[in-house]
Amino acid sequence: MQSNKPSQPKYPSGVYLPHLTSKTFLRGELVVPGDKSISHRAVMLGALAHGKTRIRHFLQGADCLSTISCFRRMGIRIDQNEEEVIIHGKGLHGLTAPDKALDCGNSGTTMRLLSGILCGQPFHSRLTGDASLCRRPMGRIITPLRMMGADIESEAQNQCAPLLIQSAPLHGIRYTSPVASAQVKSALLLAGLYADGDTSVTEPYISRDHTELMLSRFGGIIRRSGNSVCVAPFPTLEGQEITVPGDISSAAYFIAAGLLLPGSRIVLKNVSINPTRDGILKVAKAMGGNIKTENISHNHGEPTADLVVTASSLEGTQIGGDIIPTLIDELPILAVMAAFARGTTVIRDATELRVKESDRIQVMTDNLRAMGCDVEATSDGMIIRGGNPLHGAVIPSHKDHRIAMSFAVASLLADGETQILDKECVDISFPTFYQALAHLSCS
Ligand code: S3P
Repeated sequence: MQSNKPSQPKYPSGVYLPHLTSKTFLRGELVVPGDKSISHRAVMLGALAHGKTRIRHFLQGADCLSTISCFRRMGIRIDQNEEEVIIHGKGLHGLTAPDKALDCGNSGTTMRLLSGILCGQPFHSRLTGDASLCRRPMGRIITPLRMMGADIESEAQNQCAPLLIQSAPLHGIRYTSPVASAQVKSALLLAGLYADGDTSVTEPYISRDHTELMLSRFGGIIRRSGNSVCVAPFPTLEGQEITVPGDISSAAYFIAAGLLLPGSRIVLKNVSINPTRDGILKVAKAMGGNIKTENISHNHGEPTADLVVTASSLEGTQIGGDIIPTLIDELPILAVMAAFARGTTVIRDATELRVKESDRIQVMTDNLRAMGCDVEATSDGMIIRGGNPLHGAVIPSHKDHRIAMSFAVASLLADGETQILDKECVDISFPTFYQALAHLSCS
């Protein structure tokens, strides 16, 4: 991290997030951690490819470390240091039976994508995770994987993890998914690598496309048409050199803080602006946010840019429809932006928020209300009447990293002190989050 800015406040190490004065603002440059979705996929495809895959700017967060540990347990050598992760791939047929359950921790991406791969293996496996992951819906992958012939079931027959997978021959299918979910799409595309014919997935709206981009890059045969994507079975995948772009979902907290804190001007370096992920930029600009993109570069279909964020006065907006999958993980921080923007913001078509690491509609509503915000939960979103001053509060994060980071930003704008419970859950996707905030904060 580099910066060029006036004096920096000292952050105490206790549980309280320090209350910064109303004169606090952000200045400087920040390199945000690597993209979580791309980091997971680089490990998975690296393991299924022949030869070495070298990954730079890999996200060393708990979720991606869960993916690494699952592949190590299946016989893949993975070397790791601060600079890079090297996967010694063994090809599509190189995984070996794990000697015990594969622990996906808190990571839905690990569990759902890995399930697709495991359905194609000649050994049986059991996937488990933490309490939050074991409450999340797995029927959305179990049903279509079974349509492919997979032998996968929920151990407790409740459509949740732990999942049990036995060896079975897979058939290519044409699946129309009821949800726009990259995890569902990717599970089927990865299972499709082991099927007896092409596998295609059609979504109601296009979800993040990192799996299809990365599969093509490794040598997979992918065809895309409208909202559909099709994979051919048994490609020969070759190891790659990958530099993971900065995660726009992690940049989002700094975009919000930079826009909301008067006097701020920050540069977020080398952030992914993949069009299936950049909804936050569109909405923030529609709210009146001053965000400029500089130094755009393209890397195997994954564009990146430096984002220059300048404090702005924000207004409420409407968020719904096909933009939702492109900002699904940013809705908690967008709700915080809406709470400090003038006027009403309506979020709709976001029922998926209810089945994330927490029920993010309920948790955001309860926590914003605890800070004095006029907010209402709806079945598929929230109505936020913003612009009134908020006050500090005790904020249960429910161990949901995106809730903790969203309220860390809210605390900078609220009067008084805010205590975020289980604030260390940011380790899931952004282990250096509080240091990064301290690094950019000035008063
Ligand atoms: C992800 C897809 C999204 C997102 C999650 C990561 C991925 O989930 O919310 O954080 O890497 O594929 P859904 O596929 O459930 O929408």
